[in-house]
Formats: sequence, C-alpha cells, structure tokens
Amino acid sequence: MTLRAWMLALALTGAATAVVAQDLKSPSADQYVPRLGDIMSAAQARHQKLWLAGKAQNWELTAFELRQLKASLVEAALLYSGIPISNVTTLEPSLQSTSDAIAAKDGRKFAKAVGDLTEGCNACHRSMGRSFVVIRVPSDAQPFANQQFAPQAKP
Ligand code: HEC
Repeated sequence: MTLRAWMLALALTGAATAVVAQDLKSPSADQYVPRLGDIMSAAQARHQKLWLAGKAQNWELTAFELRQLKASLVEAALLYSGIPISNVTTLEPSLQSTSDAIAAKDGRKFAKAVGDLTEGCNACHRSMGRSFVVIRVPSDAQPFANQQFAPQAKP
C-alpha cells in the first residue's frame, strides 16, 4: 500500500482529513508547525488513553482515541519528511487489527493488537536513533487521573 493510499484510507475513516488537507502545500513560516516531540507526546497520551479505555471496555472512547492516535502518526509523517514512510506504513496492520478488535469488542484481540502496535512505535524509534524512547503497554499506574475512562451510565 502506498503512503498516499494509506492516508486516503485513514482520511476515509475521518481520522486525518484535516492533516491531509494541510499536505497540499508546505507550511509557511507563519503557520504553526508542531515539533515532532510534541506530536509524539500527544501520541503517547493517546496511546495510553487508548489502552485504558479499551481495558475499561468503553469501546466508543477507545475508537475515538485510536482515531486521534492515527492522526498524530499521519501528522508526524506528513510534516517531517525525514521520517521514512515505510516506518509509518508498517504500523498499518496493527492499527487495522486494533480497529477490528474494537469493532468486535474483543478485549483479548485488542490487547494483542495494541502490543503489536506498541512494538511498531519502538521499531521506528530504534531505526531513528531514538532507541531510548521505549514505549510499553501501560501498567496499572494511571497518570491520567483527570479523565474518566469507564463508560458512563446510560440515562
Ligand atoms: C515513523 C517513526 C515513529 C513512529 C511510528 C513513532 N515514533 Fe515516537 N518518535 C519518533 C522520533 C523520530 C522521535 C524523536 C523526536 C525528537 O527527537 O524530537 C520520537 C519520540 C517519541 C517520544 C518522546 C517525546 C518527548 O519529547 O519526550 C515519545 C513519547 C514517542 N515518540 C511516542 C511514540 C508512540 C506512543 C508511538 C506509537 C503509537 C510512536 N512514538 C511512534 C518517531 C516515531
């Protein structure tokens, strides 16, 4: 799958529409371009929220966090041409299996898929001289105490 096709696939799910539009021209000096580390910090937060929401079986929130995470990764690839495209496209299968597990509300498949996805984060970090940035599936420690992850009771 080419990067363009991959981004199109993401755009079709509504994840990356804004970012794809941005790609039409290079950002000019007066446009705000987030630093790669900032995009990655957002990806880290979303990766953790994805996991916590999935663990709490709040599949609606889990699907939302996956879309947000994909948007961060697409943004990184589009804005930073030094990132090898193949490092991003190799994440596609694990993003898809995470999405499938969410649709099936299958906690076991979700855990496996997020594990594979997390390995994809680290594979890119290793290949880009950032092997010291090691992402893992979150432990029970919850730094995001300011957000409720369990599904809300239906009125
Ligand atoms: C295509 C390559 C690539 C992928 C995929 C990738 N990263 Fe990164 N990541 C980078 C690079 C390059 C840096 C170093 C950025 C810098 O030096 O400013 C980085 C840095 C980071 C940092 C450190 C940010 C900071 O300022 O402390 C975190 C956290 C991070 N990534 C999380 C993730 C997570 C979570 C995933 C997977 C969901 C992921 N990354 C996937 C390339 C990638």
